[in-house]
Amino acid sequence: MMKKKIIIGNWKMNPDHPKEAVKLFKEVLSSTSKVKKTEIVFCPPYIYLEGLRKISKRNILGAQNVFSENSGVNGGAFTGEVSMNMLSNLGVKYIILGHSERREMYETNLDINKKLKIIPNTIIPILCVGEKERDDNHEYLNVIKTQLEDCLDGISKNTLNNLIIAYEPVWAIGKNAVRQATSLEFREIGILIKKILTDKFGAKNILNLRIIYGGSVHPENAYEFLKEGESHGFLVGRDSLNSKKFSEIIKITEDFI
Ligand code: PGA
Repeated sequence: MMKKKIIIGNWKMNPDHPKEAVKLFKEVLSSTSKVKKTEIVFCPPYIYLEGLRKISKRNILGAQNVFSENSGVNGGAFTGEVSMNMLSNLGVKYIILGHSERREMYETNLDINKKLKIIPNTIIPILCVGEKERDDNHEYLNVIKTQLEDCLDGISKNTLNNLIIAYEPVWAIGKNAVRQATSLEFREIGILIKKILTDKFGAKNILNLRIIYGGSVHPENAYEFLKEGESHGFLVGRDSLNSKKFSEIIKITEDFI
């Protein structure tokens, strides 16, 4: 059976105050309380995870990053980092990996691959891929291929079974986006991603794969990405900080047949 569509809110380094985090979380939960067919995920900064977990018993929390080693290594001497086990023990169910803003901070495909190799079965990885620019020679297709092949090399069957790929063209992300991506551009990349993973792992091993879109997702364009783009959901940045807009994106997805 096809997995549910999924809407993931990436709060990035927001909001400044824990009270605002609680407010935003509660507002979205209450306005989407009837949603049944769509998976909803909130990825707040690490320090808000514990507080939000106490508010809802549902498994709807995700982290925006994680360190590539567990504390058994080197006595946990990794100042400033947070481990996979810590997140798992806290009840975190999802982890965003390889977001372009982290890649910009020197995270490599190899780092991401190390993380994917130690991810427990209880955590669902959301792997972000996407090119910085669209060149006329179509070199961007190779960028995506390399990201997928290097990040996913040697991962377990279970991890592959849980995997969500978020296609996020860097040029379409955030308030400095060059332009919005179109639903057909997304659909084309969705086909490419499936082809690359079929070649690497075999068709029957990627039956559960969900490919979602991220980059300037708003209530105004969500429907066409679901319909024309055949998206399995969204990774939402800015609009996930606005409870009305985020709830609307969730409802559009819920109503989509
Ligand atoms: P945006 O961010 O929705 O604000 O463009 C998306 C993302 O970076 O995941």
